[in-house]
Order: sequence, then structure tokens, then C-alpha cells
Amino acid sequence: MAARKIKEGIYSVGAIDFDRRLFDELIPLPDGTSYNSYIIKGAEKTALVDTVDPAKKETLKRNLSELGIKKIDYIICHHAEQDHSGSIPDVLDWFPGSKVVTNAKCKSMLQDLLIIPDEKFIVISDKEKLSLGDKTLEFIIAPWVHWPETMFTYVHEDKILLSCDFLGSHTASSELFVKNEAEVYRAAKRYYAEIMMPFRTSIKNHLKMLEQYDIGMVCPSHGQVYQSPKFIIDAYKDWTGDATKNEVVLPYVSMHGSVERMVEYFTGELIKLGVEVKPFNLPKTDVGELAMSLVDASTIVIGASAVLAQAHPQAVYAAYLANALRPKTKFVSMIGSFGWGAKLVETITGLLPNLKAEVIEPVIAKGHPKDGDFAKLKDLAAVIAQKHKAA
Ligand code: FEO
Repeated sequence: MAARKIKEGIYSVGAIDFDRRLFDELIPLPDGTSYNSYIIKGAEKTALVDTVDPAKKETLKRNLSELGIKKIDYIICHHAEQDHSGSIPDVLDWFPGSKVVTNAKCKSMLQDLLIIPDEKFIVISDKEKLSLGDKTLEFIIAPWVHWPETMFTYVHEDKILLSCDFLGSHTASSELFVKNEAEVYRAAKRYYAEIMMPFRTSIKNHLKMLEQYDIGMVCPSHGQVYQSPKFIIDAYKDWTGDATKNEVVLPYVSMHGSVERMVEYFTGELIKLGVEVKPFNLPKTDVGELAMSLVDASTIVIGASAVLAQAHPQAVYAAYLANALRPKTKFVSMIGSFGWGAKLVETITGLLPNLKAEVIEPVIAKGHPKDGDFAKLKDLAAVIAQKHKAA
């Protein structure tokens, strides 16, 4: 790794984690990730913006040394999650005169998560400015992207927004700046789906609030730096907007083939009606891909087998995940098969209270689907296609 120049006096000093494959012991990272940390050297003071995951603290130390940093006055902490804050105690040891600059909520969370004494903090409030001499930092408190204490920093003279997790992506690349927008779009959409989507309303408000700033560059805390940030800001406006696409997301699990036959038939009927459909065979599915598909689909249909007289745990997990991610889905339904006495529909639909979606009559077969079940699947596809047209 190496320290890299972004603009005069502004450097990237974070770590690229090419090998990491799982975040929060939950989220797959097919492209690795990075923990971005930035040095801002003013004429009088030097600030370090966020740190790195503790596993990569030696990389941060080497990068600071390579840049010849002898003194850090301020450690700006945007967010208490440890992939950015976890090395703050180390930086305080390396640079004993430095102070942690953050908001009151973040300070309290840092003191819960890391052992940092009170006197090491400078607490700032929303829109407060801090001068480094010839560079002015403005702190913008932006809760719920994606924790309650999150904030951004805007560097006035350079028109740079340091946006923390917001607008970022889990990508490990040796390229500092975005080159391939299509590639970054997919990674950023996956990232948005996994951690930002539940806070869609807050994000909409933050996007509106940021319109008052002239943003020439965005430096997020994961992924590459945006030299032309319009595309990612527009993408966020699209994802958080109310419009949904003519798409059905179809996560399913099939133990002995009955649900699979129903999914295959139902998928074909949706295709005939011009509805895009994304089936996900849950035991073989990357949950990040499933989450990404939920960002703008109009409908979710969950396909479930019954096991031990209950809905299959894989289908329960898909419903739980969809409920937690709170997509803007307008319609939900279910298809499934059972051998005896299972409460498939009650279990699955009961797991979706957060979705403000209309429930469309499910299709549940007893055992192998029969002609009557296929007819109901055809009707379900037709109802969905009609509702998508009317929505
Ligand atoms: Fe990248 Fe929410 O920490």
C-alpha cells in the first residue's frame, strides 16, 4: 500500500483489503473492500479523517510515515463503527498531542466501543467549521447513513465532500479514482442495498440538504474517490426515489422439486407478460445479490417448501432480510408446497411488517403442483403484470 495524493495537501492514507470476503460476519464481499483514511494538511494544522480497521493499522502507520507526518492535530471521526474508528486509540498513541474531533453522539458511542478518555475529545456541532490555516473544514451531521451518529466533512477551498460510508462501495482496487462507472455503480448499489436502504427517507433528506454545497469531489470511506460525483449522487437519488421497476424478485427454496417446478412455470408466465423476473435459489444465493435486486423491484414473491411442518428456514431468512432492509416494494406474494399441516403463508407474511406493500393472494400446492395450481400461478402472474402497469 502507499499514501496517494488527491489534491494539494490532501492524501489518501488508508488500507486496501483485497482478501476480506465477509463483513459483520454477514455481508459477502466478492470484491474485497478498503478502509479509507485521509490526511488534510493545512498551513497551520493537520487533520486525519477517519482511521482504518484495526487489522490494517500497520498500513495506516506506514502510510503516515511515508508522507512524513510528524504531528496530527485532529482526528476527525465521522462514524463510530470500528472499520473506521478502530485504530483511533493507536493513532492517539502514535501522535499523543492529537484530539478526536466528532459530534456528541459519536463521542458517546466511541467511548462505549473503544476506551478513549474524555479529555481526548473536541465535540463539534452541525455546520461548525474548523480552520487548518488555509483549509476550512465544515462538519455536517447526517444521522442514519447508516448509524445514528454519522457525519460528513466538507472542505470549502477544495470543494471536497468526505462522505463516510455514504456513497461508498465495498471495492478493493489499486486505482484511487473511479475509472469504470458501470463497475462502481454495481458495487455501490450492492452496498446501498446492504446497509443504506433501510434509511431511505433520511438519505433523501441528506441528498436535498447537500444541494447547498458545491461538490466537486467525493471521498468516501470505502471504495474509490469520485472525481465526477454526479453519477453516484444521481444513482442515490434514483435508488431512494419512490419509483419502482417492472420487476419481480423471487427468492425460493425447493426441497424435492415441487416449488422449483412452480418457480419455473411462474417465471415463464411473467416473462410472457413482459415482467422482468429474478429468481434466487436461496441455498445457492449470495445475499448481497438478493439485497441489490430488492432496491427497485415492484414485487417480491417468496417461494417456500415446508419442513418440520414449518416454512423452510431459508425462506424465513429471505423474508426476515427483506423486512430488515425495508425496500420500496409495492406488492408481495408467496408460492409454496407442503406435505402436511404447514402454516407457510402465515409464517412468511407475518415476517414482513415493515414492508408497506399490498399482499397478493399466494399460491400454495399440496405436494406436487397440479393443473389447478399451475392455473393459479398463471393468474398470479397476470395480476402482478396488471398491478405493475397500474402502479
Ligand atoms: Fe464502513 Fe459503517 O462502517
